[in-house]
Amino acid sequence: MAALRAVVTAGSGRTLLNAAKCSHTRKAHMSFASLPKGKKVALTTLGVLTTGGVGLALALQQSVKASDLELHPPNYPWTHNGLVSSLDHASIRRGYQVYKQVCSACHSMEYLAFRNLVGVSHTEPEAKVLAEEIEVVDGPDDTGEMFTRPGKLSDYFPKPYNNPEAARAANNGALPPDLSYIVNARHGGEDYVFSLLTGYCEPPAGVDVREGLYYNPYFPGQAIGMAPPIYNEVLEYDDGTPATMSQVAKDVCTFLRWAAEPEHDQRKRMGLKLLMGSAILIPLVYYMKRHRWSVLKSRKIAYRPPK
Ligand code: HEC
Repeated sequence: MAALRAVVTAGSGRTLLNAAKCSHTRKAHMSFASLPKGKKVALTTLGVLTTGGVGLALALQQSVKASDLELHPPNYPWTHNGLVSSLDHASIRRGYQVYKQVCSACHSMEYLAFRNLVGVSHTEPEAKVLAEEIEVVDGPDDTGEMFTRPGKLSDYFPKPYNNPEAARAANNGALPPDLSYIVNARHGGEDYVFSLLTGYCEPPAGVDVREGLYYNPYFPGQAIGMAPPIYNEVLEYDDGTPATMSQVAKDVCTFLRWAAEPEHDQRKRMGLKLLMGSAILIPLVYYMKRHRWSVLKSRKIAYRPPK
């Protein structure tokens, strides 16, 4: 033990040892050429297999995407796209109005309750008024009968159909999906929904769309069972915003983004706090680390053979 001494120096290593000079460390030979033949073959096989596998996976991925008539939605400049941008809450409020007056005729949003609107798009009294407009079956009461009552804040949005079969029967066999999480459930998110809503057009020459279906280049398969739900002036906004088709689509998409991701604003605010906190903490911790380690980093450990 005595032979091995750690020598700690703060300055130059001049007083130290010749140990470095006379040590004969064997250089590690790690090159491919120096490997035994068996290993070379194994490594080559592994390389070829990995490359082939990655290539195959990529090709499969592409072939799934490839549908030559399908249009990919462009990236729209949503105001909430930024790293620290919140959702546009006036737009959420208008979007709720669009959902209520247009989409809710066919689409449910079963994971949203009226209380969720409070503090986001509506005040508590406003949300209560909205809830009271619906009738909810409740019960049983003292006599065992079910009864209806006006809605409360804790009630969920009413569904247009009692069950999926009724929904299909009313829509030519197509099931209008629940919209609570739709922007997360589709590739392209709100870009896709916006494009879908505003993208209806005449089918190109030579393409026939079956009775009851509508041509939409953004929909996978291009023939969708939803009639164009919005157009200019489809409704009149309470806040007086001109209800052009694109405005209506943008507002309902913002609303749907909030519905799918109600923690959106909170998440970005936390991210901002984290960035600001780490901007201070990381340099500090780095400085302290250098400070504490400087002694250890500048020492040399030498082997002095016993005389
Ligand atoms: C008249 C009934 C009706 C109305 C009103 C309606 N939809 Fe639909 N929607 C449907 C049906 C039916 C489908 C299923 C279409 C299919 O699968 O072919 C659908 C599908 C969808 C889809 C899913 C498309 C996909 O990729 O699977 C979205 C998103 C959608 N609707 C959004 C809306 C929005 C937003 C509104 C309100 C502005 C709305 N819809 C209004 C009937 C309706």
